[in-house]
Amino acid sequence: MKLRIAVLPGDGIGGEVIEQATRVCEAIANKYNHQITWVKALTGASAIDAVGEPYPDQTHQICVDSDAVMFGAIGDPKYDNDPSAKIRPEQGLLKMRQKLGLYANIRPTFVFPSLMDRSPLKRERIENTDLVFVRELTSGIYFGKRGRLDNGKTAFDTCTYKKFEIQRIAKKGFELAASRKKKLCCVDKANVLESSRLWRETLQEMETDYPEISVSYEFVDAVAMRLIQWPSDYDVLITENLFGDILTDEASVISGSMGLMPSASVGDKVSLYEPIHGSYPQAAGKNIANPLATILSAAMMFEMSFNLNQEASHIREVVNQSIESGYVTEDLAETPKHKSYSTTDVGDYLVQQILT
Ligand code: IPM
Ligand code: MG
Repeated sequence: MKLRIAVLPGDGIGGEVIEQATRVCEAIANKYNHQITWVKALTGASAIDAVGEPYPDQTHQICVDSDAVMFGAIGDPKYDNDPSAKIRPEQGLLKMRQKLGLYANIRPTFVFPSLMDRSPLKRERIENTDLVFVRELTSGIYFGKRGRLDNGKTAFDTCTYKKFEIQRIAKKGFELAASRKKKLCCVDKANVLESSRLWRETLQEMETDYPEISVSYEFVDAVAMRLIQWPSDYDVLITENLFGDILTDEASVISGSMGLMPSASVGDKVSLYEPIHGSYPQAAGKNIANPLATILSAAMMFEMSFNLNQEASHIREVVNQSIESGYVTEDLAETPKHKSYSTTDVGDYLVQQILT
């Protein structure tokens, strides 16, 4: 297969983890006879520095012209500490999601048996966890009207959802549940919020089209609690933008490291694959960042964008091997005294495992 992939390393450790992911993809391409053309483009703080804005038109064009997009991370402390900055790296991410129509963010949470004791949660609670969040990504409070009144002394952000926005993401949720354990949990705050009531109403109407799926409706505060008490009770969870942002960070704790969790953002056009962790500026340039979340995101890309399931399984297999054999970065080393490896060492190991 001939594949054209846009690469957006972004900021902080983004470049380092993306580099290892592209090496792993190249090894897979070599093994299975694919030809990948990589097209690099700027986003985030590095794009602001270079051309004055975080998601330049040229980057957008490169994404649109590609079969898939691989994204690292964005964010830079120089903006975090300056709330008055008019142009911010995160705006680039939001603009990219919106312009590419990436309305569904798929974030799986699973545990690696050999890392179970790395989780702050008890083994018996997290064993058998295999759940997926479907987070709405291009609407809600992230994109609603916002502003200041009263000479700046009052601020507001509004959460708006249109029925078609709920229907299209709900369809993804139902379909994903149909391909898994056939359980869908709609996470909302329908006891308080009107937008949540529209979510609930819409999903209830759609239930009849998916009689094999058992659907539950739970309030977000209760899910925040049950998710870490009994994560294995869940299969697919579907929710609006902000609830999904918060709950997916919470869910990453189950697996023991944020450095392991991949994600896919999909819509009607090209899809984007990225680790759920951020730009981790403290580690940038030190060759210590864990590249596995980005590499597992590449596995999702082979499966979801290219339908190349064997290639995806092969990537997951070698990632498992690296974890089982302790070939991991310092965040996953058993104790600080245990030997750990650099970002590039882990990449070398994976490439070698694929090619032999
Ligand atoms: C995420 C991030 C982003 C979000 C930030 C960086 C804007 O936290 O992808 O979860 O809030 O969506
Ligand atoms: Mg987040």
